[in-house]
Amino acid sequence: MAETTTMDKLVSLCKRRGFIYQSSEIYGGLTGAWDYGPLGVELKNNIRDFWWKEMTQMHDNIVGLDASILMHPKVWEASGHVSNFTDPMVDCRQCKSRFRTDMIDLQGACPTCGTSGSFTEPRNFNLMFSTHMGAVHDDSSIVYLRPETAQGIYVDFKNVVQSSRVKIPFGIAQVGKSFRNEITTKNFIFRSCEFEQMEMQYFCKPGTDEQWFEFWKDQRMSFYHAMGIRPDHLRWHQHGEDELAFYAKEAYDIQYLFPMGWQELEGVHNRTDYDLSQHQKFSGKDLSYLEQETKERYVPYVVETSAGLTRNVLMVLSDAYEEQELEGGDVRTVLHFHPSVAPVTVAVLPLVKKDGIGDYAEKLERELREDFATFYDQSGAIGRRYRRMDEIGTPYCVTVDYQTLDDNTVTLRFRDTMEQVRVSVDELGERIRRETKAYKRQ
Ligand code: GAP
Repeated sequence: MAETTTMDKLVSLCKRRGFIYQSSEIYGGLTGAWDYGPLGVELKNNIRDFWWKEMTQMHDNIVGLDASILMHPKVWEASGHVSNFTDPMVDCRQCKSRFRTDMIDLQGACPTCGTSGSFTEPRNFNLMFSTHMGAVHDDSSIVYLRPETAQGIYVDFKNVVQSSRVKIPFGIAQVGKSFRNEITTKNFIFRSCEFEQMEMQYFCKPGTDEQWFEFWKDQRMSFYHAMGIRPDHLRWHQHGEDELAFYAKEAYDIQYLFPMGWQELEGVHNRTDYDLSQHQKFSGKDLSYLEQETKERYVPYVVETSAGLTRNVLMVLSDAYEEQELEGGDVRTVLHFHPSVAPVTVAVLPLVKKDGIGDYAEKLERELREDFATFYDQSGAIGRRYRRMDEIGTPYCVTVDYQTLDDNTVTLRFRDTMEQVRVSVDELGERIRRETKAYKRQ
């Protein structure tokens, strides 16, 4: 299947089934901004929760934080974003379109209006959005919408050390919105102006940073395998000297084979003591750490794992999407989501509504919703209902039929294999939990 076709089909499925819509669509849309519909928000929250559990609950030395989006403007001077967070851009003198210099042929014609020789000299363009806070609208009231969540963690480093029982090495995890004035926003939600990040900053003793860097590289790749992502669609890319961000000593990206090719999904960065030292300098506050056992004092090094949550949504959708040819030439569209992130885990479907079957199924669905994300559907032929559930990636369908009324068993259908087994209603919840834990994509 052509790659662009896959992206087009994904975009269309996402709109049709309520995963993702263009922002402000009735006004013609807003470039670089997206809305997550009823199924999209569930998928996004589930990926976030999967990450949060893995990065906090599964480690005894990582704590969470939710810092505000608006921060003191000095934060961004200290971090280097005011002076360095820029992309070189050119404008077309004819049509005023703006392009990143690495995205076009500077000697060629303008991709928008076709005029040759119309580009200005490259200029650095800051990616931060700014606004004003308070009643006065001048330079003193400028605040920025954060371009990364990481700085909130550095700025609260001392607070966390003093108010919780963490000891180095330890991590602080955070999920939240970030904003960048991206000029090139094609490829659906891949690169947007408003997006979400899932970041963890791991504070360690200088000299141990390289060892922790390797540790976190391993952990982060394992995370994607655990989320059921196809391993042959994931790879490492090491940043060369020319790619390294201004704060990084070493950086690797996890790349995913998106419909448009291999692209960055997450970065693992060795940020050294750059950020804490900068905040120490600009704030005048001591951000060093005293090691109780050795009485040694130092500014910790930081190993950062930085993943895009919204980019993860696109990755999970691309990875899950399949148009499967069935016996007899029928084609089904199926999303092979891992059951832990699927928006709906269990659909309950009465074979027919009459003879008490619908009532039984409704009652069963109400019981199951205590533990699972459920969906009740009694309209249409059962085959059509299964297809609708396949298309939104529901891993388990439970069908209530006449036999159920006799012996309290139901049919449990598995999305990937379409296999059906008969299960006692009493064991259903436990069976679904077990299947979810042992899930391997088929
Ligand atoms: N704190 C480090 C940092 O922000 P980054 O490589 O600029 O590093 C990390 O961003 C991750 O955030 C990327 O790998 C990507 O998944 C996501 N990301 C960055 N810019 C994005 C954008 N404009 N739209 C969607 N996701 C983005």
